[in-house]
Amino acid sequence: MPAAITVRGFRAPVIDSWWISCETREDTMSSRSAETWEQTPPLPEGHYVSGRVYNDEEIFSDEREHIFKKIWHFVCHESEVAETFDFRTTERADVPLIVTRGEDGRIRTFINVCSHRGARVVMEPGGNARTHTCFYHHWTYDTRGSCVSMPRSDGYDGTGVCKENMGLREVKTEVKWGFVFVNLDDESPPLDEYLDGALDIFDQVLPKAELEVFHYHRAEIDANWKAYQETIVDLYHEFMHVILRDTQMPAASMDDREMRTYANGHVTIAGLKADYDKYEGWTDRNGASCFPGLDPDDARFAPLFPAQTFITRGTVMRVDTVQPITAHKCLIESRGLGLKGESEEDRMMRIDHHNEYWGPFGRNVTEDAFAAEGCEFSFGKGAALRGIIARDEGGKGQCDSGLRGFWTEWSRRMGRPFSHPTND
Ligand code: FES
Ligand SMILES: [Fe+2]
Repeated sequence: MPAAITVRGFRAPVIDSWWISCETREDTMSSRSAETWEQTPPLPEGHYVSGRVYNDEEIFSDEREHIFKKIWHFVCHESEVAETFDFRTTERADVPLIVTRGEDGRIRTFINVCSHRGARVVMEPGGNARTHTCFYHHWTYDTRGSCVSMPRSDGYDGTGVCKENMGLREVKTEVKWGFVFVNLDDESPPLDEYLDGALDIFDQVLPKAELEVFHYHRAEIDANWKAYQETIVDLYHEFMHVILRDTQMPAASMDDREMRTYANGHVTIAGLKADYDKYEGWTDRNGASCFPGLDPDDARFAPLFPAQTFITRGTVMRVDTVQPITAHKCLIESRGLGLKGESEEDRMMRIDHHNEYWGPFGRNVTEDAFAAEGCEFSFGKGAALRGIIARDEGGKGQCDSGLRGFWTEWSRRMGRPFSHPTND
């Protein structure tokens, strides 16, 4: 038996030669014993994912520190804070945030925590307010994050505490094509460096369109956040969705698909088509008002690492984020976008097209949640030991190269190989 190999403190598994050849005759095929079930498959390390990544509490908290506190997060579209003093509250990496538009028109983000004794300042999910007053002792902040009022402030005379040094903590904020991104790490690279060109598959579309959000929903599901995000990157699971089996898989050659992976773990998929009238009861979308530069049957998407996805289908756009809640629960937020100022008829068409696939009762996103919860059922308590991501179609068809790109970046940021992330 060869000795175990140790790499950067992580022990690589020893692979035994138990694997049954794929050329084995049908009459010798069999179910697997405990030994063959538990042993590491004879695949390259980057071609299978350890089940520990979905259920280990230390890994879960490391992800918050090494990934979610370091990356750029999409938080909202500028149309959601369209007017001066509009605000929205949200959370990223367990940090509560206020996103607001100041009287200078600039969108800023602050940690939604009072500088006095740490209370949450803004309670509402959104609204319009020139200032925000903390409920506890009534310190008040403006839309630049300055503390503008401190009741009976003379009680702090001589202590060094004053309005001038008690503002809110500002968070790095950048807006690209109307999409608002924030980063909790002041030392992070600029947004464009993080994106690494992954949104360029929309560069003939999004800069030419003035968009607005017409749909928002959120859902907590019982699954590790990665199990849901994998459903976005995994094209092989098209078989699961009746709607994709009917409209997408036969609509174009698998060889027309272009899956690209990027240095920061992002993935783009272009070259997808859809024949919508192939789904019973639907009509084609020919002649419908599309986004600039898109045909009605065009579909493309950009899952950004770690868990935010931009998708267009000729007539409509969806942006999703997934946030970890626990190792076994995550929050999905989903937005639908249309063209600002369009006719009521076009807006209704776009809402229909959005909801048919992606709405809370659509035939796509809800089924992905079902898939993620199905994996949680087995990975959550350790019954499933690993997942295989070994499909190689050269970035075409239903290749697993996107999944491997996602997991490679996960390993880089976590300092743990995803095939054996713990030494258990
Ligand atoms: S905690 Fe906010 S004013 Fe005291
Ligand atoms: Fe799916």
